[in-house]
Amino acid sequence: MQFSVRHALGSYNVYCERGALSHIGDHFALDRRVLIVTDTGVPAEYAKAVAKCCQTPTIVTVAQGEESKSLAGLELLCETMLKNDFTRSDCVVAVGGGVVGDLACFAASAYMRGIDFYNVPTTVLSAVDSSVGGKSGVNFNGVKNILGAFYQPKGVLFDADVLKTLPARQISAGLAEAIKMALTFDAPLFETFERGEVNDALYESLIFRAVQLKAAVVEKDEREGGLRKTLNFGHTFGHAVEAAGELGLLHHGECVALGMIPFCSEAVYKRLLPVLKRFDLPSAIPFDMERAFPYLTHDKKWGKGGVDCIFVREIGSFEIKKLTKDELLKTITDAKNRFI
Ligand SMILES: NC(=O)c1ccc[n+]([C@@H]2O[C@H](COP(=O)([O-])OP(=O)(O)OC[C@H]3O[C@@H](n4cnc5c(N)ncnc54)[C@H](O)[C@@H]3O)[C@@H](O)[C@H]2O)c1
Repeated sequence: MQFSVRHALGSYNVYCERGALSHIGDHFALDRRVLIVTDTGVPAEYAKAVAKCCQTPTIVTVAQGEESKSLAGLELLCETMLKNDFTRSDCVVAVGGGVVGDLACFAASAYMRGIDFYNVPTTVLSAVDSSVGGKSGVNFNGVKNILGAFYQPKGVLFDADVLKTLPARQISAGLAEAIKMALTFDAPLFETFERGEVNDALYESLIFRAVQLKAAVVEKDEREGGLRKTLNFGHTFGHAVEAAGELGLLHHGECVALGMIPFCSEAVYKRLLPVLKRFDLPSAIPFDMERAFPYLTHDKKWGKGGVDCIFVREIGSFEIKKLTKDELLKTITDAKNRFI
């Protein structure tokens, strides 16, 4: 399965193909110097499989975790390219989750003012969300994603065989972003979440459809001027819950799952709750929800007069409403009984 994503400077293909890692050279131009970036949590065999398809591969393995999305990480990648005489006609391939993807893409955007970048997402979150849309970046001075660039990949390849090694909790957390896409854009996809037999083939088809939906959004709004706001569904409160919890208590996708709960109609909530439970996503906050409130206004998306919030009254559609801080707090506290 494949589709093409258009952007201001051209287009690229997204391939969803089981077993494709071992012949990735059929899809990507790897007959050159290739910097393969991965992390210590990603099984090394994936980067090695990609390396076998490259003319001159160099693998860099950063430490797993958000800390690697740093200027030090960027420096390591650029230093490695410089030492290995990378030119503007060489390329970078990310083999990993969103951490590796964001870091490697930023390095590709900066090295010699931009060399080709390919993304091989190995988590559900990175397949569904971060692999398309062209956002790259690192954290700096304790602020997440504060340095970065919009830089489009030359290609994206998701091989669902990588799910075999991904912890179940990571799969569920990534699927929260796919549920988000279904709720806002695709009622039949949501029905598949409700009824499809849960197995690897289902995951693969949910991921493929969700990334297609995300691609359609970013095609229409490359630089986050309008429609892309919809991708923030579940994130305003989700980010606050994520910030309020101890480090590592909840995964980002789990917080998105919780964040969607107050922002839908009662009818939608009644269908969302069983889906969250079906995919082992939380529907209760593991601490007093008030603890998250101070973090609500830290959202980068706050502007004059409030923050744009996405509401889903009917599955497959959305409304955007600007809420003041008080209105936002009321929306969340009114939904307190839903967190069960
Ligand atoms: N650029 C964007 O548009 C965008 C969108 C959403 C999120 N993000 C970023 O993505 C990052 C989160 O991404 P993530 O959830 O993929 O986390 P991650 O990259 O940290 O991966 C999660 C963990 O899974 C491990 N892992 C990856 N693939 C594996 C596999 N197949 N088998 C076993 N283990 C595997 C990793 O080593 C890591 O420990 C955050 O930094 C976030 O800011 C970016």
